[in-house]
Amino acid sequence: MTDDAATRPAVTSRRVFLASVGAGGVAILAAGCGGGTTRSSPTVAPGGAFVQPNFMTSQDGRLELTLRAEAQKVQFGNGTRFAYTYNGSTPGPTLRVRPGDRLVVTLENHLDTDTNLHTHGLHVSPSGDADNIFVTVAPGQTHTYTYDIPVDHRSGLFWYHPHAHGHVAQQVAAGLAGAIVVTDGIDEISELTSSTERVWVLADPPIGSDAGALAVSGMSQMQGRQGARVLVNGVYQPDVAAAAGVLERWRFVNASASRYYRLAIDGHQLHAIASDGGRLGAPVAIDELMLAPGERTELLVTPTKAGTYRLRALAYGRGTAGMGGGMGNGMGGSTGSSAAELTVATMTVTGNSGPTALPSQLADPASMTLVSATSTRTLELAMGMGNGSMMGGGGSMMGFTIDGKTFDPARTDITVSLGAVEEWTIRNTSPMDHPFHLHVWPFQVIDGRGPGGWKDTVNVPANSELRIRIPFTGIVGRTVYHCHILDHEDLGMMGVIDVAG
Ligand code: C2O
Ligand code: CU
Ligand code: CU
Repeated sequence: MTDDAATRPAVTSRRVFLASVGAGGVAILAAGCGGGTTRSSPTVAPGGAFVQPNFMTSQDGRLELTLRAEAQKVQFGNGTRFAYTYNGSTPGPTLRVRPGDRLVVTLENHLDTDTNLHTHGLHVSPSGDADNIFVTVAPGQTHTYTYDIPVDHRSGLFWYHPHAHGHVAQQVAAGLAGAIVVTDGIDEISELTSSTERVWVLADPPIGSDAGALAVSGMSQMQGRQGARVLVNGVYQPDVAAAAGVLERWRFVNASASRYYRLAIDGHQLHAIASDGGRLGAPVAIDELMLAPGERTELLVTPTKAGTYRLRALAYGRGTAGMGGGMGNGMGGSTGSSAAELTVATMTVTGNSGPTALPSQLADPASMTLVSATSTRTLELAMGMGNGSMMGGGGSMMGFTIDGKTFDPARTDITVSLGAVEEWTIRNTSPMDHPFHLHVWPFQVIDGRGPGGWKDTVNVPANSELRIRIPFTGIVGRTVYHCHILDHEDLGMMGVIDVAG
């Protein structure tokens, strides 16, 4: 794989997205329809080439860069759209680091609201100037974050995004997200080095010509806002040009504020080789893979036959916040909590060939063994009419709580001693799914679905519970756990944990 960006200057305002030049794109103004916003949008035809953000790679144990958070017009189809960008692009640059590296990021806030930076999934300190989400960077201010990645950090796909309470859903939906790739020896095995690696940042931003596109109703916030179009690295329905006999290795992050993706590809078996928190012991054959907001996966696809195949997101209903019911994926796309099946991308294969060999072993199988717990705890995710303290657009907002409480940065909800291994039962008593996420300390899901492995985000379906085991090792500090439907996080479905040595 080439890392051509390694020598690029750290600060760049270069646009990385090519226009997805499809046939027949005409700039008509599409009026919104009943109930949605009435914003004009550029027309965009599917079929642009698959593109990726710039890679920025650490050298001699260090990667230092500036991320400039700024509203910009970005190229979209045959026109432009309004977005929040890092260094002029959405998603922002992909940061490639190794265990033991130091990552230094200076965040510049050119937005008109508070922001900050979180490195989702990295097992790094949540204190001081590291992954400290209690730091707020006001408009016009800068803050330099320094992350020391432990030498025993697992390789995998992680990501960065803002975490300033109350602004997270809007800022991430508007485009502020980027991938972080941690590489180690597993990346050097020949089956992987000979594959075509692609990073897919999945998002469904509000599409419009100005900041008005970001407006959202109280109902959409309760359901969790969804956009009408799914973009891959900023491009609508891109086409992946693949060669028969060459393994395609796709690393996905669900950077949507609320949308779930049940990924499946026509005519091909998928093999998962990583979960959120790192590589699996061996490839796991699957027909589909669900990615809730915040989750990541790494999938192998073996093209053998010439043709064009669709990568689809299958239909999924994640429940409803009530009052009006699940409105589906209607025009405007922002009020429903369910998603109709759609095409995420296409893969066009040239040539014909026998199947490519898959790697037989990835992570050390011993590192996948289920840890045993030293203590247990139950957390309850709930929705109900709040205590009246949360008012939104013309009515009272439903309360989104963990253990009956909404987020208070001054309160510590859970205290754990360093070295404990806790088993948590996450009980969802609400009629909506909630993706549960814990910062800093990866966990194993005991009774979850999917390929397993180390995770930091897991979907807890409506009216159900599941158990996770968390070794609180290596790092101390105070941070958060929350629902990764970012509107729910902003509405208070978040708690504070303090791990002390
Ligand atoms: Cu990706 Cu606290 O979040
Ligand atoms: Cu996180
Ligand atoms: Cu939620």
